[in-house]
Amino acid sequence: MEEFFNKTRIYFGSGSLSHLLAYQSQRCLVVADPFLVQSGLIGRVTEQLQEFEIFDQVVPDPPLELVVTGIQALLAYRPQVMIAVGGGSAIDAAKAILQFGRQTQELKGQSLTFAAIPTTSGTGSEVTSFAVITDPKKGVKYPLVDAAMRPDVAILDPQLVTSVPAVIAADTGMDVLTHGLEAYVSTKATPFTDALALQAIRDVFLYLPLSVQAKAEPALDDAKAQPRARMHYASCMAGLAFDAASLGLNHAIAHNIGGKFHVPHGRANAILLPHVVRFNAGLSDYAQREFSPAARKYAELAEMLGFGGVSVRTSVRNLLRQIDRLQQQIQMPQRFRDCGIEETQYQAAAEAVATGTLSDSCIATNPRIADRRAVAEILKQSY
Ligand SMILES: [Fe+2]
Repeated sequence: MEEFFNKTRIYFGSGSLSHLLAYQSQRCLVVADPFLVQSGLIGRVTEQLQEFEIFDQVVPDPPLELVVTGIQALLAYRPQVMIAVGGGSAIDAAKAILQFGRQTQELKGQSLTFAAIPTTSGTGSEVTSFAVITDPKKGVKYPLVDAAMRPDVAILDPQLVTSVPAVIAADTGMDVLTHGLEAYVSTKATPFTDALALQAIRDVFLYLPLSVQAKAEPALDDAKAQPRARMHYASCMAGLAFDAASLGLNHAIAHNIGGKFHVPHGRANAILLPHVVRFNAGLSDYAQREFSPAARKYAELAEMLGFGGVSVRTSVRNLLRQIDRLQQQIQMPQRFRDCGIEETQYQAAAEAVATGTLSDSCIATNPRIADRRAVAEILKQSY
């Protein structure tokens, strides 16, 4: 027996922030990026509330120390609603704060509504049971997984993503594509997760170039904001897909590269993506008759996206070509050497990156088993 379940109620579209009016009589702790506070964007959220406090100490790649400070804020304010506003870091930090905060004596058994409002379109964190916390001393990212961390409510208001800079739209958009592709070929994929992943992948190919080209400015009209809106929903759909199907080798390596070299998460995924697809597909020579399950799924996907070829082999190649084309359209660096990483440092870290990759929980659902040699080869190719 299998199951598909996601408890998060999703409000989306222009004006969806008004759902927050439902919390007017409640004490709300708003967890946000300091940038949102400085830019005034947080006002769009807080103007809907009456009684609230803002915890704005979130930093990118939230470290363990931040979680500890956040728990102190949570215990001091004792909110009825926690509202995370920001990119993946703010939502992930809020999840970890809530997760560990709920285990304290003071909050045990207390009900608290958790709402997530993403202001970038990438992580899908607003609907997932995953959070990534960093140990900066060790340079390691730890994926936390617990169904209890899923937000109760997600609000996808496109007006919050119209002023995202192009480079962030590009990085986060490639994270969406990687979520979709990894969920689609995951060993835990089901027809339900495939449907969500397929729609997300299709929308990335259609809308990401337009979304990156769109002039970043507040309050574009609804028609102009459409590519940004569709990427915002695609991010959430890919999140629903990988929350159930999980991810794979691409994320396992990206977590470790990101922890060591601070390459933005989506960019690290994007650089690795063609190499991981090639590894998973396992195409050998032209005499090959049997194809791996992953190769067949990539080919099926290419066909549904209109990139299909005459055989599994040509369909997989076409998919790779389209990924390459997309990366060029959005001017995404395609090698780690183009991300300011020195070759000697990269090589020196390779062993530790491979070790971290093999123990990352995402690797468990990769369609092809990867050993240390395979990871080393992908690292070499992607430099
Ligand atoms: Fe990701």
